[in-house]
Amino acid sequence: MKPHAHEPPPAPLRAVATEARHDSGPLRDSFGRLIRNLRISITDRCNFRCTYCMPEEGLDWLANDAILTIDEIERLTRVFVSLGVEEVRLTGGEPTLRRDLPEIVARLAPLGATGLRSLSLTTNGILLPRLTPALAAAGLTRINVSLDTLDQKRFWQVTRRDALDQVMAGLEALEAYPTISPIKVNAVAVRGFTREEDIVALAGLARRKPYVMRFIEFMPLDAEGNWDTDQVLPGDEIRTIIHARWPLDVLAGQDPSSTAVTYRFSDGAGEVGFINPVTHPFCRACDRIRLTADGQLRTCLFSIDETDLKSPMRAGADDLELERLIRRAVWSKEQKHQINEGEAFQRASRSMSQIGG
Ligand code: 5AD
Ligand code: SF4
Repeated sequence: MKPHAHEPPPAPLRAVATEARHDSGPLRDSFGRLIRNLRISITDRCNFRCTYCMPEEGLDWLANDAILTIDEIERLTRVFVSLGVEEVRLTGGEPTLRRDLPEIVARLAPLGATGLRSLSLTTNGILLPRLTPALAAAGLTRINVSLDTLDQKRFWQVTRRDALDQVMAGLEALEAYPTISPIKVNAVAVRGFTREEDIVALAGLARRKPYVMRFIEFMPLDAEGNWDTDQVLPGDEIRTIIHARWPLDVLAGQDPSSTAVTYRFSDGAGEVGFINPVTHPFCRACDRIRLTADGQLRTCLFSIDETDLKSPMRAGADDLELERLIRRAVWSKEQKHQINEGEAFQRASRSMSQIGG
């Protein structure tokens, strides 16, 4: 097997300037990283209860009037795109729970004319059988469906919902819409839950179907604070399991800002990727920022502080004022997460479903 595709270069990430001055050009942080990727959570609610994400009874959901309206989402996205953001992903919670999702997509898609290159969705997939035609018509260009096992009973154990068939039907529905491409399937791997059979079955799905399979290491973003290093199943271990069954070759020429390292089955039958934020942090190439459903800008999954964009916007701020707030927040983007630094690690101020993955 070839070595890890993009080991980080040895030089440490250094601040390019000490002064927080950055008032023109594309969005950049104090470490010189260009910010091109925005994830927008459009709701914190979810119809699943994945054990690694939230408790069975759910969480305290945001009030409706705390959540950004479609007009506010459109406006902020327009400002972000004018500052150099090229990729927007809609997430949740579960974004398909918002009834105006197709309309949100339709409002953002025209930003393609001003620099938006990709408009994607991360979903648990259960509502896709009915929503796919509307999403395709609205202009969605990519999709990620979360799916951790192909076994009905184990699917229920993870998500606390009996919905495997609907998710599989959702994936099939996507196959009829070539404008939504690629179709990615994301599995969170948790040691103690994820078994070799799950891994092999999911890799088999990537061989059988036009889906790109990706395995994600479990991160300390669960609402209940149960995460433990022992529950991290390293991506390299998963890759070794798959490689033993179906040999893999690392894909050449990968985008260094991509969080996943992608491999191709040597026999050409498809692709699998590994997102290894814990064992191979990719912070130095991070080009992401996040907007929560209640309009707070987060510059890292593990941010402790957020920048409120909703209140100024509702108080009448013009685009230039929003731009200043965004530039200032981005400039202070965290250097890296500290998951592997023991005591130094502080849990994020919100859990995954409240941030948007
Ligand atoms: N660690 C890693 N991935 C997670 N997800 C949810 N919680 C975690 C976690 N603690 C994944 C979901 C979905 C995406 C939004 O994030 O399974 O694929
Ligand atoms: Fe819902 Fe996604 Fe959390 Fe599962 S991981 S409970 S699908 S938000």
